[in-house]
Amino acid sequence: MAAVPSVPVIAIDGPSASGKGTVASRVAGLLGFHYLDSGALYRLTALAARRAGCLLPADDIAVEDALAGRLAQIAATLDVRFDGAAIWLAGEDVSLVLRDEQTSREASRVAALAPVRAALLQRQRDFRRAPGLVTDGRDMATVVFPDAVLKIFLTASADERARRRYKQLIENGLAASMEDLLRDIHARDQRDASRALAPLVQDHRASLLDTTCLTADAAVEEVLRRYRAQATSPCE
Ligand code: CDP
Repeated sequence: MAAVPSVPVIAIDGPSASGKGTVASRVAGLLGFHYLDSGALYRLTALAARRAGCLLPADDIAVEDALAGRLAQIAATLDVRFDGAAIWLAGEDVSLVLRDEQTSREASRVAALAPVRAALLQRQRDFRRAPGLVTDGRDMATVVFPDAVLKIFLTASADERARRRYKQLIENGLAASMEDLLRDIHARDQRDASRALAPLVQDHRASLLDTTCLTADAAVEEVLRRYRAQATSPCE
């Protein structure tokens, strides 16, 4: 089925580890909507590139055009399958490795490249299918789905986000250090907000949801409340 603009989209953007994924996927489940974790596509591109021997230069060195072109080609031809919470790349379940810190760092770097973003744009829009889509990322409201019926900018303090990421990694049996996580979160915030292309900014029509002191359940409830409110008075 082709993606159609009349299908409602709830776009949830926000910084690293703010809980967007948890909230967005639960809202999708409760509404019976499809779910797109757009960050996973950047993570998959970084992982597929590493596996293809297409390595990024050291952190402070710019990526050359030729390498950006190859990365875009990898992004355009990702052999990926989303199956509930599991993500498969070329027939392998990569759900866990996708979330490790190396892949997170590399995803943030490939996401700054124009050819990679262009290669993933239509792929993201193709997730818009009836009865609706809930999606999370950095530029869902600003670039990918500017006509979303509800736009949420979901955030939390950097300390709280580092704590959540730590808990998540430990629960998945992965090694983690709070100090390293906090440093990485600050670095990623800086990179995501300052990049020239699709930077992390709150869309002018997005409403802020600060979850520093909210449980995931409370955040989900609040998104649903705002969705119902816009459905009854869409011009507000
Ligand atoms: O969990 P976290 O928010 O750290 O990461 P994610 O949402 O899985 O995204 C991984 C990386 O992809 C981030 O560092 C972003 O720079 C990038 N990204 C993006 O540029 N645009 C999106 N729509 C989603 C993610």
